[in-house]
Amino acid sequence: MDFNQTLALRQSTRSFIKDRQITEEETDVLIKAALAAPLAMGDTKCTHLTVVQNQDLLEKIRAGVQLTRKDGSKMDPLYGAPTLFIVSSTELSEDYIEYCNAACVVENILLAATAMGLGSCYIWGCLRKLRARADLLALLNLPEGATVLSAAAVGYPQTPLTERKDRDTFGVTRL
Ligand SMILES: Cc1cc2nc3c(=O)[nH]c(=O)nc-3n(C[C@H](O)[C@H](O)[C@H](O)COP(=O)(O)O)c2cc1C
Repeated sequence: MDFNQTLALRQSTRSFIKDRQITEEETDVLIKAALAAPLAMGDTKCTHLTVVQNQDLLEKIRAGVQLTRKDGSKMDPLYGAPTLFIVSSTELSEDYIEYCNAACVVENILLAATAMGLGSCYIWGCLRKLRARADLLALLNLPEGATVLSAAAVGYPQTPLTERKDRDTFGVTRL
């Protein structure tokens, strides 16, 4: 897919086909995209990617980090996605640059997923809960001392990606 078309199609999918896993080949492409992300100098040593496709584990994570809507009902913060990419780091510097690295990794995953027609969503809101769950973190087998920084949910979207006309934009100054 052309890069501009990928940019135009990239959007947060919040409804995935839960029981349709992405293929091995698609997973490999996404990992390759993640590994191509720009990282601040030297941070390949502390950055780590965890790919969760084991549905039992994913269900445990879903259940452990579910969010509560304003009306009190519970929601799946992963929107039924069958694959979750988690970016962590074994270091956290004073300026928290590792969070910037993680965002670059996630964005690469989101764009690569879009280019293959897959749905994707940046996952952040529920990670505070995940960080507080030592039992779930243990199941993730993270590198020693790693902190979960960001995540991406990926899967087949319930409705195919189409270019949106209503995309929110922000200000640009050209000098
Ligand atoms: C740092 C960051 C954290 C985000 N966290 C979440 C999240 O936890 N859950 C979610 O549904 N969307 C999350 N998003 C997605 C944004 O809500 C979404 O990108 C924004 O509303 C624009 O919509 P679009 O992605 O469809 O263009 C996050 C995006 C970013 C960049």
